Amino acid sequence: MNSNEVRQKFLNFFSERGHAILPSASLVPENDPSALFTTAGVQPLVPYILQGSHPEGSRLASVQKCVRTTDIDDVGDKTHATFFEMLGNWSIGDYFKEDAIKWSYELLTKEFGLDPERLYITVYRGDEEVPKDTESVEFWKSVGVPENRIYPLGDANFWPKPKKDDDYSGPCGPSTEMFYDLTEEGLGDLTQEEFEKADEDQKVVEIWNDVFMEYRKENGNVIEKLPKQNVDTGSGLERLLTILQKKDNIFETDVFADLIAKTKDITLNERSARIVADHIRTSIFMIADGVKPSNTDKGYVLRRLLRRAIFHTKNKNLGEDDSNTLVDIVYNTYKDQYDLGDIPNIKKEIREESSKFEKTIEKGVREFEKIDGDISGEEAFTLFASYGFPVEMTMELAKEKSISVDIDGYMAELEKHQEKSRTASSGKFKGGLGGRSEEELKYHTATHLLNAALREILGEHVQQKGSNINPERLRFDFSHSEKLTDEQKLQIEDLVNKWIEADLPVSFEEVDLEKAKKIGALGVFGDRYKNRVKVYSIGSVSKEICGGPHVERTSLLGKFEIKKEEASSAGVRRIKAVLV
Ligand code: ALA
Repeated sequence: MNSNEVRQKFLNFFSERGHAILPSASLVPENDPSALFTTAGVQPLVPYILQGSHPEGSRLASVQKCVRTTDIDDVGDKTHATFFEMLGNWSIGDYFKEDAIKWSYELLTKEFGLDPERLYITVYRGDEEVPKDTESVEFWKSVGVPENRIYPLGDANFWPKPKKDDDYSGPCGPSTEMFYDLTEEGLGDLTQEEFEKADEDQKVVEIWNDVFMEYRKENGNVIEKLPKQNVDTGSGLERLLTILQKKDNIFETDVFADLIAKTKDITLNERSARIVADHIRTSIFMIADGVKPSNTDKGYVLRRLLRRAIFHTKNKNLGEDDSNTLVDIVYNTYKDQYDLGDIPNIKKEIREESSKFEKTIEKGVREFEKIDGDISGEEAFTLFASYGFPVEMTMELAKEKSISVDIDGYMAELEKHQEKSRTASSGKFKGGLGGRSEEELKYHTATHLLNAALREILGEHVQQKGSNINPERLRFDFSHSEKLTDEQKLQIEDLVNKWIEADLPVSFEEVDLEKAKKIGALGVFGDRYKNRVKVYSIGSVSKEICGGPHVERTSLLGKFEIKKEEASSAGVRRIKAVLV
């Protein structure tokens, strides 16, 4: 079944059951400054759900173009993409859990012919605000899913994620998700723990999410029931195709086949081929919907995607012929489904952005290649300061070559440099913050608190294995062999927030490395520190060797929230967290 047939079958199924078929909305949300891009089929429908009616009726279905960049680091694996199509059906105050579940099951197992023996279901296990979704369990059982294949889960089964305080205002509710076994041998019955592990290892994959929207959130808190019960569902087309076309990953399905064949020609490895295919496809759809590369908002996301794609090509260079070919391939793949508009303009935008970027990085890569062995902080800094080569790129290149970058050393160099220019401009120098924005400073301080909290809650075996900060979030890798429980995540959040509220002072002293070790300052193992190091203290809860800079007091951080906890590599976990 090719992608056109799958989209059509989905829409026909719901059309036969009284659903009006809506065209895909633009990737750029209309009248919604709070969202950069359309991230789910329900997004354009939110106002109608809140008002309780839609001009096309109470049953709707669509195939919606979506962009989500939160998973950008995962692109290259089997299932993640920054652009995807979401198949969805909605009830606005019409049918509820029973029909939604019945139809999901019927469509998957009868129309699409999926093997019921390979299906696993998750439901919302409830909390103090919203009760456990026992009805869904019963409806799943009544269509034939055995109870031991139905797993109650926490926040993952509440939409939008996260369940806990964010600043979301709008309709929300518990969800029930369908997972499919991708393994050749078939996993059979799994305990909840085995199921969660299989999910993490991408042996099972989420293929459909039915959300039962009957609540409303205001600034992150569930405050009331909506006047009507609604259904919002979403199934990722690319994942469904992977299964229906019996492929190993989304890049082997027909929506990617021609594109990946081409990107394999212009990249050095499979991961890069996937990243280029994904990012170029997303960029083309964004430009088609009117986005232009720039340094702000949507334009900045587009710029980063395009540049990262170019960076992953063989020669860090996307020639005009190749880039035009990629646009033609995407046009041909989607011409029966979407009108991409002015194709020559898409080609022109990509070409112009490529030329700008290629000038910057050519020199940087050449310099990078001259470096022998691991990259010191000084070397990373020189690449940045003299060749305009962003440290992110240095880190990507280093990863490819399996060498390390002394990122703390880099930060220290950056700060030293800024101190110099501060002096040079006789104290007139403003901003800078060691190359970091105010937001990044906060995340840097929050990272130290997180490190300390992890050691307190999980144990002293926790060691920092990596850290990455941008103005929107922190990412922290640490040694620990098990998935964190919801309880542990809560404890860690609470502890960090307690320290934030306590308004602890942040200070540093410069000491000899030996002394730093003696006073128990944490350091990143294997880093090459100089003889004199800075030790940053946060009240009495954290002491780390670090180049800084940091904020002065913890109360400046706001509220700390863990957004994601996942495996990073063997024995290493990764946390992504935000300050809100
Ligand atoms: N809105 C739900 C989701 O995005 C269906 O998963």
